Amino acid sequence: MSERTFSIIKPDAVAAGNAGNIIQMITNAGLTYKAMKLLHMSQAQAEGFYAVHKERPFYGELVEFMTSGPVVVGVLEGDNAIARYRDLMGPTNSTEAPKGTIRGEYGSDIQNNAVHGSDAPETAKQEVNYFFTKEEFID
Ligand code: CMP
Repeated sequence: MSERTFSIIKPDAVAAGNAGNIIQMITNAGLTYKAMKLLHMSQAQAEGFYAVHKERPFYGELVEFMTSGPVVVGVLEGDNAIARYRDLMGPTNSTEAPKGTIRGEYGSDIQNNAVHGSDAPETAKQEVNYFFTKEEFID
């Protein structure tokens, strides 16, 4: 079944010049971009996006990292897109990510892990709507 998922190419990967290669990996995997933009998250935007992690010890650092430079946010579509994109990213901790996954190729550690992807259909919808309006989609 075709579904959509939300993707972020994080500040570490954009700053290192890896956004193009990551987009290539995503499209080579058969996922299609339905919307995409470069933006620099505000403090409030990053705090809201990661509100679910507010009580975690790494929350402050996570918000600081995500606002440290531009990111590429996107909406990916395809059969089983949520799980397929998660497989392509590899595990959250880049040091455990196999070669051939995005984090294995371009991530450094658990925080500087190159990309984000939604973990379930409900969060995918919320995350897409957090960054995109209807007018910004292809179709
Ligand atoms: P992401 O998929 O964007 O969702 C939450 C992010 O928090 C995660 O990727 C990591 O970048 C970060 N994160 C998760 N666990 C830790 C941790 N233990 N220490 C630092 N950052 C973390």
